Amino acid sequence: MTADGNTTNPARVWFITGASQGLGHALAIAALDRGDRVAATARRAQSVAELADRYPGQVIALELDVRDEGAARRAVERTLGAFGRIDVVANIAGYGLFGAVEEATDAQARAIFDTNVFGPLNVLRATLPVLRRQRSGHVLQGSSLYGQSAHPGVGLLAASKYALEGLSDALAAELAPLDIKLTLIEPGYMGTGFLSHLAFTEPVPDYDRTVRAVQSSLGELPPDAFADPARVAAAVLTAVDAKQPPLRLALGRAAEDGLRGALTARLRELDDWADVTRAVDAGHS
Ligand SMILES: NC(=O)c1ccc[n+]([C@@H]2O[C@H](COP(=O)([O-])OP(=O)(O)OC[C@H]3O[C@@H](n4cnc5c(N)ncnc54)[C@H](OP(=O)(O)O)[C@@H]3O)[C@@H](O)[C@H]2O)c1
Repeated sequence: MTADGNTTNPARVWFITGASQGLGHALAIAALDRGDRVAATARRAQSVAELADRYPGQVIALELDVRDEGAARRAVERTLGAFGRIDVVANIAGYGLFGAVEEATDAQARAIFDTNVFGPLNVLRATLPVLRRQRSGHVLQGSSLYGQSAHPGVGLLAASKYALEGLSDALAAELAPLDIKLTLIEPGYMGTGFLSHLAFTEPVPDYDRTVRAVQSSLGELPPDAFADPARVAAAVLTAVDAKQPPLRLALGRAAEDGLRGALTARLRELDDWADVTRAVDAGHS
C-alpha cells in the first residue's frame, strides 16, 4: 500500500477489446510495459500480432468482433487457458455516428448499438462468471463525455453511451458485494482514429445550422484539444491501481468542462422546477 492509500501494482491479467488501435492499444501497451499480461482482442487477430511479438510471453492475440457472443466466449476460454485468470476487463471497442437524430437510418441506429452496447454486454456475459468465481476483478467500460452529455450531431452516439452508463450504474451495485469493481471511462477528445472512423448520416438541410455547424466547429479544433491516448491510458491505470476506484472517470479538459456544464444545468433545472416536481406527491398542499 502506498502513502496515498493506493495499492501497489500486482501483475494483472487484462482482457481488452479494440486492442488493435487507439485507446485499447494504448491501454495494452501501458499494462504490458509494467509487466502485466494481456489478452489483446481485435476484429483481426493480425492487427494485434505485433504486440505479441514485442512482448513475448505476456500477450495472446485473439480474434474478437464484439458483436459475436460466441467469439467472446471463445476468447475468454483462450485467455483462461493461457493465463488462468482475468483481473481487468476493458470494454474499449467502439465507434461513432455523426448526424442529426432524425437523419440516422434504422440500420445505422441499430448498428451503433450492436457494437457500443450489445458488444460490451456480450463481453460481460463471457467474462463476469470468471470474475465472480475469483471474487475479484475490475470492469472498465469505454464510455465518453457523451455518456452523460450531448449536443447536436451526436444523438445516436450519446444514446449508445448513455445506455452503457445506465446498465453500468446498476451493474456496479450488483458487482460490489462480489468484490468486483467497475469504472466508466469518460474521455473527451482523444487523438485516435475515432474521427476518421466516424459513420455519417445523409444530411437534411434543416439541420445545417445545428448539426453541420457543430461538425464544422469540431473540424476546427486545434491539435492540442485531443488528448494523447497514452496519457489517457496512464490515467486509467491510476484508477485501476486505486484502492477505491471511481465509478466514473472523466479524462481531459473537454470531458471535465462538458460534464460539469451538463451536470450543473441538470441540477439547476431540478431546483428550478422543484415546486412542480413535489406537487405531484400525495399530501402536498
Ligand atoms: N477518440 C475520442 O475522441 C473518444 C472520446 C470519447 C470516447 N471514445 C471511446 O473510446 C473507445 C475507443 O475509441 P478510439 O478513440 O480508440 O477509436 P479508434 O482509434 O477508432 O479505435 C476503435 C477500436 O474499436 C475497434 N472496434 C470497432 N468496432 C469493433 C467491433 N465490432 N468489434 C471489435 N472491435 C471493434 C476497432 O477495431 P478495428 O481496428 O478492427 O477497426 C479499434 O480497435 C470507443 O468506445 C470510443 O467511443 C473515444
